[in-house]
Formats: sequence, structure tokens, C-alpha cells
Amino acid sequence: MTQSPSAAMESLSVALGERTYPIHIGAGLLDDPGCLLPYLAGRQVMIVTNATVAPHYLDRLRHTLSGADLEVCEVILPDGEATKTLASVERIWDALLAAGFNRRCTLVALGGGVIGDMAGYAAASYQRGVAFIQVPTTLLAQVDSSVGGKTGVNHPRGKNMIGAFWQPRAVLIDTQTLATLPERELSAGLAEVIKYGLIWDAAFLDWLEREMPALRALDAAAIRHAIRRSCEIKAEIVAEDETEQGVRALLNLGHTFGHAIEAHQGYGNWLHGEAVGAGMAMAAALSAERGWLTGAEVERIGAVLAAAGLPRVAPAAMGVDDFLERMRLDKKNLDSRLRLILLEALGRAAIHDDTDPAMLERLIERFPRA
Ligand SMILES: NC(=O)c1ccc[n+]([C@@H]2O[C@H](COP(=O)([O-])OP(=O)(O)OC[C@H]3O[C@@H](n4cnc5c(N)ncnc54)[C@H](O)[C@@H]3O)[C@@H](O)[C@H]2O)c1
Ligand SMILES: [Zn+2]
Repeated sequence: MTQSPSAAMESLSVALGERTYPIHIGAGLLDDPGCLLPYLAGRQVMIVTNATVAPHYLDRLRHTLSGADLEVCEVILPDGEATKTLASVERIWDALLAAGFNRRCTLVALGGGVIGDMAGYAAASYQRGVAFIQVPTTLLAQVDSSVGGKTGVNHPRGKNMIGAFWQPRAVLIDTQTLATLPERELSAGLAEVIKYGLIWDAAFLDWLEREMPALRALDAAAIRHAIRRSCEIKAEIVAEDETEQGVRALLNLGHTFGHAIEAHQGYGNWLHGEAVGAGMAMAAALSAERGWLTGAEVERIGAVLAAAGLPRVAPAAMGVDDFLERMRLDKKNLDSRLRLILLEALGRAAIHDDTDPAMLERLIERFPRA
């Protein structure tokens, strides 16, 4: 028996006043016009995707849009974190201008976080801002990057250094798209899922420890629950602090270390989620040094990362200065103090800018390498 997609759909919302928007989660949403059409601003639709995702899902999305009286164009970018640049955004602007699209057009981001971040930034800046819809197709994008309105591109000197806050009109998560996702990418997405347990919800962390094999096997119920709980936590945090003046910074657990790893290794060689996995292991170790976590808790965190297929060690080639130089560039730093997200307990994180530099250096020095 086939179920209609909307019957099997779950929804939640990101509460941001008049910019409040829904997150719809379900298997097969991509084929349901009812999920997509209500969020278009006008008749002009630009699908932004990449050369890897397009062969799997572009025709289906086009078909879903075909019944309505719309002008649908597409731009298919090359794949990869290394292409998350202003030059790629320029290609989106070019396509919009070539199609003669006006301020009532809608961009639809079909792909992972790289496509979502770039399409979002193109939407934020095209004619001073047009509508956009996120259709995330990686686990990482479904649980994290598609929600919350951070958009942008990398600069050779730092990740995500150019960007804007620009919220989508809707986030449509078709869990079936994970069927084609490479296993390594699934693991990378699980890093962000584990992050939510670590910073916000110890019971969710317990659940993740139990369900990790089911998640890696793409068990439908487990995947849906993990996505839903992750989106709920992110939505709650974003609603409280849209522009990261406070609590939203907790979502960066492991990211200061992780961004240093990504930038040092060359964007795309270590996946974002892999670098964040290693970064969370480092943040956990530092939290233990600070006296907040026990050795057994640090080991639990290492074990759940390993169960997700993630590294829990840093790259062999990175010395202390390679970390510190990059970490000082981090956007969370204010004045000249290094601000780090640390765990005060499992399920509870806080920002600290008072870590003794010598302690941090020693920790990086001694942290296991691959
Ligand atoms: N905006 C935010 O709040 C936020 C949060 C977290 C991460 N990010 C950003 O997200 C990016 C990482 O996103 P990502 O992990 O999705 O990487 P990605 O977009 O590079 O996607 C990973 C790979 O999977 C491919 N792919 C995507 N969907 C697929 C599918 N269904 N089947 C087969 N292949 C598929 C992609 O083409 C790519 O090769 C980073 O640039 C990071 O900075 C942004
Ligand atoms: Zn991340």
C-alpha cells in the first residue's frame, strides 16, 4: 500500500514573528506539490542544485512544480565545498538576471549544505532579497544547515566569512533522499545530530547511543525521529537568538577546532561533519581538563562518535600553531579573547572565554592524532 506523502508528514515551526516558517519532514515530500507551492512568492522559480544531486532529484522536483502555471529555471553548479565561493553565487545571480527574474521570484535550494548556504546567500542579496525554500538532501543539511537562516560562502582566509542571515520560507525534508547519500556523508551529518544531544538534551544522547546502528542502516522511524528532534532543538535555539548574540553560539560546539581542521586540510578533504566530530572530541577533552566532565564521560562521547563512523582524533599533520592561528580567526571571538563552547555536563554547554592559553596549548599538543 502506498501512503500519500502528506499523510506521513510531520511538521514543526521556527517561530520568528512574521518570518515564522514551517519545517516539513516526511518520506516522499519531493513529489508533493502541496508541500511546495504554498511557499512560492510568485510565478518565477529558480532551482539551485549541483551536478551530483541533479541526476537524482531535479526531474522529480520539476515534475512536482509542473502542474502549476510557473516559470521554472535551474542552475546546476559544480559539486564540493571548494566551490562554496562568491564566484558560484555570481553564477546564480547571472542565471536570475538572464532569466529576467524580478523581486517576486523564489529560489529553491535542492542539495546539501553547500548548495543551501549559497542559494540562501544569492536569495539574500539578489535585488536586496528574494524568497527562498530549502529542500535539503544530506543529513547534515536536514538537521542543521537548512534551518536557521545562516547563509554565505567561504573566503580563502576563513570558512563562512562572507554571508548574511536570511530565513527561508519553508524547509522541506524528504527523508528518502538519504537513500542515495554516500555513507561517509551520512556519518558527517550524524556529527551534528550528536552535537544536539551533547549541548541540549542528555536523554537524546542516550537514545542516539542505542539507536546508532539503526540510524546508520537508515531505519525509517529512527531517521525521522533523529531529524525531528534535531530540528526541534535547532528551531528552539534559533527562535530564542536568531542572530547569535547568545545561546545560538552553543550550536558551534566543536566548530572552532573543526573549522581549523577543515581550513588546514583544505576544504572538502575532511568533511565538515568529520572535522566537527574531531572538534567535539577536543572540546570534550578540554571540558574534562576544566573539571566539568569525567574521563568516563569523555570516553562515552568518543564512543558515540566512533559508532557514528566519525574520527575522534585530529589530523596527523596539524601542529599546535596550525590550530591556534586558525582558531584566533573564529567569528565567535570578541576583542582578542578566544571563546570556546565547552560542556559543563552531558546535555549542557556554555561559552567560555577564560580558558588558560597554556592549558589549551597542552591539550592540543597531547590530543591523539590520526
Ligand atoms: N548554514 C548553516 O547554519 C550551516 C550549518 C552547518 C553546516 N553548514 C555548511 O554546510 C556545508 C556542509 O553541508 P553538507 O554536509 O550537506 O555538504 P555538501 O553540500 O557538500 O553535500 C555533501 C555531498 O553529498 C552530495 N549530495 C547531496 N545530497 C545528496 C543525495 N541525496 N544523494 C547523493 N549525494 C548527495 C553533495 O553533492 C556533496 O557531494 C558546509 O559548507 C558548512 O559550512 C551550514
Ligand atoms: Zn556544523
